[in-house]
Amino acid sequence: FVRRPLIAGNWKMNMDHVQGITLLQKLAWTLDDANHDHNRVEVAVFPPFTDLRGVQTLVAGDDLDVVYGGQDLSQHDSGAYTGDISGQFLNKLGCRYVLVGHSERRSVHQESDETLRAKVEAAYRHDLVPVLCVGEGLEIRQAGTHVEHTLEQLRADVDGLDAEKVATLVVAYEPVWAIGTGEVAGPEDAQEMCAAIRAELTKLYDADTAEKVRLLYGGSVKGQNAAAILRERDVDGVLVGGASLDAGEFASIVRFEN
Ligand code: G3H
Repeated sequence: FVRRPLIAGNWKMNMDHVQGITLLQKLAWTLDDANHDHNRVEVAVFPPFTDLRGVQTLVAGDDLDVVYGGQDLSQHDSGAYTGDISGQFLNKLGCRYVLVGHSERRSVHQESDETLRAKVEAAYRHDLVPVLCVGEGLEIRQAGTHVEHTLEQLRADVDGLDAEKVATLVVAYEPVWAIGTGEVAGPEDAQEMCAAIRAELTKLYDADTAEKVRLLYGGSVKGQNAAAILRERDVDGVLVGGASLDAGEFASIVRFEN
């Protein structure tokens, strides 16, 4: 691999703090039992905010080889923003990553690219690596304008960021029609989009920077289809929803055979 693969589990609004700890313990045991080589891939989980403290304690106490992050953050640092979570709080809880612009945030919370651009900036301000999610809905896919649509989101969300920051960025391509539907995009669809994203980053920045960015695919990834997707040249990892809630299934994605 040119870039170290990132296997990320987004728990979404599932798992209370007890269930979350149990899941993570089971994942660690399953990987240990299988003598998993932790150097091979980076494993990240994105629990609900209310689980983060428990995850932090478990990861530190048991010395787990798992990193974690928030599912969202505010574009503001502090103040009268009831219900929002600042990047500085995530940073203090030991988060390495934060999801920005997941399609469920874009659709359910109407987050605009302007807001998402501010959230990317906020993540970097607090030493968090944004996992920027982009991707098209079914109608756009059927109209054949999915590449242009996704690149437009990308351009708007990273507009004006300096190359040094972009080099650390993670971009997750998640076609909305493949999320939670069992409809997985083919490995060649994932590769087509990831290659287009890398080419766009080369245009916006330079080839060196673009080669450093990790690109993930997300949408109905399971143990049985992960390896084929991860074999593609420009796919550097996966962002897993439903299948990350089952320790055995997620472990089999982490241990994909290439
Ligand atoms: O963040 C994860 C994606 O939304 C994929 O979810 O694996 O349940 O399709 P899924």
